[in-house]
Amino acid sequence: MGVSFDSEKKQFHLTTCHTSYIMEVLLGKHLVHHYWGQRVKIASAFELPLVEQSSFSPNPEPEHKEISFDTIPREFPDYGRSDYESPAIEVQLADGTHVIAPEYQSHRIQPGSVQPKGLPFIEAETGDSSETLVITLADSFSGLTIELYYTVLEKQDVITRKVVLTNQGEKPITIKRVMSATVDFFRDDHFEIINLYGAWAMERQVCRIPLGRHGHIIDSKRGSSSHEQNPFLALVRPETDEFRGEVYSMNLIYSGSFQAEASVNAHGKTRLQIGLNPIDFSWYLQPDEKFTSPEAVLVYSSRGLNGMSQIYHQLYRTRLYKGYWSKRERPILINNWEATYFDFDQDKIEQLIEESSRLGIELFVLDDGWFGKRNSDKSGLGDWWVNREKLPKGLKALSEAAHSRGMMFGLWFEPEMVSPDSDLYRSHPEWCLSVPGRYRSEGRNQLILDMGREEVQDYLYQRMTSIISENNINYIKWDMNRNMTEVGSPILSSERQKESSHRYILGLYRLLEKLISHFPEVLFESCSGGGGRFDPGMLYYMPQTWTSDNTDSVERLKIQWGTSYVYPPISMGAHVSACPNHQMGRTTSLKTRANVAMAGNMGYELDILTLSDREKKEILQQLSLYKKIRKTVQSGKFIRLRSPYGSASSAWMFLAEDQSEILLFFYLTLATPYNNFDKIRLTGLEEDSLYQDQSGQQYYGDYLMYSGLNLPELKGDFDSQLIIMNRIG
Ligand code: GLA
Repeated sequence: MGVSFDSEKKQFHLTTCHTSYIMEVLLGKHLVHHYWGQRVKIASAFELPLVEQSSFSPNPEPEHKEISFDTIPREFPDYGRSDYESPAIEVQLADGTHVIAPEYQSHRIQPGSVQPKGLPFIEAETGDSSETLVITLADSFSGLTIELYYTVLEKQDVITRKVVLTNQGEKPITIKRVMSATVDFFRDDHFEIINLYGAWAMERQVCRIPLGRHGHIIDSKRGSSSHEQNPFLALVRPETDEFRGEVYSMNLIYSGSFQAEASVNAHGKTRLQIGLNPIDFSWYLQPDEKFTSPEAVLVYSSRGLNGMSQIYHQLYRTRLYKGYWSKRERPILINNWEATYFDFDQDKIEQLIEESSRLGIELFVLDDGWFGKRNSDKSGLGDWWVNREKLPKGLKALSEAAHSRGMMFGLWFEPEMVSPDSDLYRSHPEWCLSVPGRYRSEGRNQLILDMGREEVQDYLYQRMTSIISENNINYIKWDMNRNMTEVGSPILSSERQKESSHRYILGLYRLLEKLISHFPEVLFESCSGGGGRFDPGMLYYMPQTWTSDNTDSVERLKIQWGTSYVYPPISMGAHVSACPNHQMGRTTSLKTRANVAMAGNMGYELDILTLSDREKKEILQQLSLYKKIRKTVQSGKFIRLRSPYGSASSAWMFLAEDQSEILLFFYLTLATPYNNFDKIRLTGLEEDSLYQDQSGQQYYGDYLMYSGLNLPELKGDFDSQLIIMNRIG
């Protein structure tokens, strides 16, 4: 278990409870990848393939014509010596050349995990029996040392990887590309790929296509992990489905531009990798300096896509989230954005607080518009002082109004941004990301502060700490509403300009680390025009994310389904909003809106003052129901049963950690003539457990799994049902 090294075979064997990951050192210097997959006891020595016609695959070993980097699987491929696939590393040396020849030098094994400097990571705990293997490769000519870190979390069934580069030479080295993880699958090209793509209001849609005979790159060049692609890529067997089959996946713990790639060459060698996006990135490494890559999480499952997701969910819930809120049930919030947008005053907010406390809501969130001269999205960002014209009694009065009713009080910030029409911009125009002499493109009328500058971090830290402490704020919604353009930083030298975007993310993480340490009990939720930065980097600091600005329950089914591939339901902000829906114009019942929101971290976002008594009564019931099932939703096992992509109905279920409760959510998106003849098989239950539903009907676990449950008769489009079953024997 953990890490073992066979000194005769020169073989490293990393073992988790279900997985093996094997590497070998060939000829004392070439680190080859041997195997990743279902756990095996002992691996035979790596067998080199015979390549008869090798003139087009030149070999770097004159005595060993069988060694060509074109054909053997490599653990950390460089470019320039017969490996023609995408490399894990590319550098430029001081003489302008690019070729490096990293060779195995040494290795060490240490207990626990290691934090990548200044970056979020998976922290092992005592009892995980985790170990970290560090393999050192060195290029003797340039003095570049490459340390490959593998942390094996045995019980969690996970391996994390990262890379530390050190310049031990005498001249600077420019890093042009460094992947956090790369795996070569030897003699194995039988794959399809899955990625999560999207756009604003349609984040993390599932895309699955054959790998074919070419390369697939998914990436973000936006300076954020983005709505468009999530930093996740998986290889699956064509026969793999939600319940069966193999999945090999990677997720990057990073919130900026990234790249992930899957490719296959003519020798049947498949390469999967993930890391920083090499576009608009380089890092100037002076002698003795180090560069650390973000950490990648590698998850293998032989139990289909649900098997993979359950590993990620369990890992992130227990080892990624930090502090006070990491293991606590999350409060049900109400947010005033879709109720008022910018058009509110003290009275309106006080009335909303009062009414929400009557309904049983636990946290009131005041969204955009409480600060500076912010009556539209055209001005005010950066001026983090209370707008006394709008709120003459100040924030304190509102926070006290909530607290006196036993509710928490939260506030929206968009710290990384500045409006050109703001006092902050007028006094510090030089604080923005920009390229001298170039137009600064605006997005939503705003510019981006250069988070790489310490004075910017200090200004935000000072403003936010005073607002939070003076007004006793319990929750922060941290927004970020545009992507980067004209990326550059006037404080960096010319050879460091391409460091701007990564330095921005490091500065952002530094500020977040300081704030969450200062306010350990404040709950932070990240947001980027909805789910434009839904990634494990953000989740490390802020354990929940606003999943999407699209609050339409039908669209949300697809968004929450895709998001759940990697991220647990407790991390997904999911709100009941008004109808017709503000994004889609669709009308759905209050029941269905709640049945979708209850499958995540539930909240409300509508003007409750305009609701009828019947609607208020229904909301009261929804809230008391969610409070009863919240533990199972937020810490139970989530299982996808029927996909909303391309089908008229969909379903997912939650199973309490101790199996005492089952929540089956069934949604009928489009009514069909015989939809009442439907049944669904549950999974993950103990065969002999006896369950009873709300109507008193009893079922054994084996019956629910193998015969299935007759689905309720639903009528009309957008109907839904939540079936709750409790174990009675
Ligand atoms: C973004 C967020 C919304 C809301 C607005 C406020 O679009 O995603 O939820 O906070 O900003 O301007």
